[in-house]
Amino acid sequence: MPAANVDQQSLRGFLRMVEQDFPDEIVRIRAPVGLGHETTALVFELERAGKRPVVLFENVDGGKMPLVTNVAANRGLLAACLGVTPEDLPTAFRERCQRYIPCELVKEAAWNEVVIEGDDVDLTKLPVPLQFKVDAAPYITGGQLSARDPVSGVDTTGFHRFMLRGKNRLGVSLHSGRRMYEYYRRAEEKGEALPAVITIGIHPLHYMGSMVYAYPPNVRKFEIIGGLFGEPYRLARTATAELEVPAGAEIVIEGEILAGVREPEGPFGEFTGYASYRSTQNVFVAHRIRMRADAMYHSVVSGMSRDHIQVSCITREGEILNALRRNLPNVRAVHVPHTTCGAFLAIISMKKTADGEPQMAMMATFGTELYTKQVIVVDDDVDIFDMNDVLWAVATRVRAEKDIVLIPGAKGAVLDPISDPENFTLTKMGIDATRPLGRDFAERLVIEEADRARARAILAQAGINL
Ligand SMILES: Cc1cc2nc3c(=O)[nH]c(=O)nc-3n(C[C@H](O)[C@H](O)[C@H](O)COP(=O)(O)O)c2cc1C
Repeated sequence: MPAANVDQQSLRGFLRMVEQDFPDEIVRIRAPVGLGHETTALVFELERAGKRPVVLFENVDGGKMPLVTNVAANRGLLAACLGVTPEDLPTAFRERCQRYIPCELVKEAAWNEVVIEGDDVDLTKLPVPLQFKVDAAPYITGGQLSARDPVSGVDTTGFHRFMLRGKNRLGVSLHSGRRMYEYYRRAEEKGEALPAVITIGIHPLHYMGSMVYAYPPNVRKFEIIGGLFGEPYRLARTATAELEVPAGAEIVIEGEILAGVREPEGPFGEFTGYASYRSTQNVFVAHRIRMRADAMYHSVVSGMSRDHIQVSCITREGEILNALRRNLPNVRAVHVPHTTCGAFLAIISMKKTADGEPQMAMMATFGTELYTKQVIVVDDDVDIFDMNDVLWAVATRVRAEKDIVLIPGAKGAVLDPISDPENFTLTKMGIDATRPLGRDFAERLVIEEADRARARAILAQAGINL
C-alpha cells in the first residue's frame, strides 16, 4: 500500500478533499455518456451558468473507467490546495514555487498493479474523448510528459496534447518551446530518440507547478511541485531510462519521442478559442502502460475552458510579478485575464515614482513571458481585475503618440493565430495608461465609502437591498 502522504499528493487525495470540504463543488454524472463532444459540452454549459465544479463521469463509454475533468477550473479549490483564500492564491503560489524541496523516491506505486507491454499495449482502450468537432482525432489532454535533458540529466514535466493515432502511437506537439522542446532538440541532434513517460491523473498542485517556467536550469520541476505541497514530492521509478514520476498517479505510459520523424498532428481546439493547425508534429511511441487496477482517467477540457486556462493566468501573474519586483518594488499587482486566453495580455498596477518606469515594466514582462504580446500599465487607483476600470484608464490617460510602445519582430507564441506563420514573430505592444507625473492632471471622481453606505441604508428603507 502506498504511504498516506503519497495519497494526499494524488488526484484521489484531491477528490477526497473536495468531497469532504466542498461537497457542492463536485458533480457525479451517472447517466451514460459517449466519447463524442458530450464531456466538453457539459463543462461549457456549467461554465455558462457560472458553475465550476469538478466533474466525475462514472459511466463513460460503457463504464470501463471513470473520467474526471474540470479539476483546475475552480479558483477556490486551487486556493484550498494551498490552504489559502482565493484572493491570496497568486501571492502564495508565487512564494511557494520558489521553495525548491528535493523529491523522495518511494519503492512502491499503485500504478504497478496492472502492467501491459509490447503488442498488448492499446491506448484506444482508454476513454479518450473527442473534445471539439474540428479535432483531428481523440486527444489525451491530461497527460504530463516527463523526460530528462540528454545533456544535464535534469528532468522536467508538463502537459502536452497527444493525438490518438493508433494502439501505441501518439502525435505530440512541443510548440511551447520550453524545456521539453529543448531536451528533444538535444536528443535529436545526437540522432537519438528521447525516452519519455506520460503520466495521467495527477493532483492540481502538480498541474500548477508544471506551468512554472522561470527557474534555474539545475532545478527539477518536481522540486517546485514539492515546494507547493510544502513537503517532498513522492516519485517512483519507471523502467524507461529510470525516469521518475509521481507515485500517486493513475496511469503511466512509457515510451519515446522518435528522432527524425514528423507526422501530421492536429487540428486541435486550443486555448486561443480557435482550431489550431500549428504543431511541431512529433511522434510518441508507447512501449508499456502501467495503471492502478481501478484507474481513473483524467481529461483537461480544451479550448478556452477555465480548466485549460485558469492555471495559466495564475502562473503567469506569479512569474511576471516575480520578474518585475526584482527591479521595480513599486509594482503592486499583475493580472492576466481569462478573456485574453490567459496569455496574451498582462495588466500591471504600479505606484509610478518616475517617468519611464511603465516602459521598464513592459520590457521586463516581454522578456519574461513569450506568450504575452500586450501590456497595459495603470496607476494603483485602477482596479486591474475590472476590465471596465482598465479600459477607462486607457481611454482617459493614454496619449497615443507618446504612450504606446511597439516592439516589432519579437518572438510570439506558435499557437497565436496572428503570429507570422513562418517564424511565429509578431509586434508586441505596451500601453502606458498611467497619468503623467509632475503636473496637474484631472481629478478622478469618487464617491466616498461613507456616502455609499448611507445611500445603501436609504435604499434599504425604500425596500431596495443591494
Ligand atoms: C492543458 C494544457 C495543455 C498543454 N499542451 C501543450 C502542448 O500540447 N504542447 C506544448 O508545447 N505545451 C503545452 N502546454 C504548455 C506546457 O505544458 C507548459 O508550457 C510547460 O511549462 C512546458 O514545460 P517544459 O518546460 O517541461 O517544456 C499545455 C498546457 C496545459 C495547461
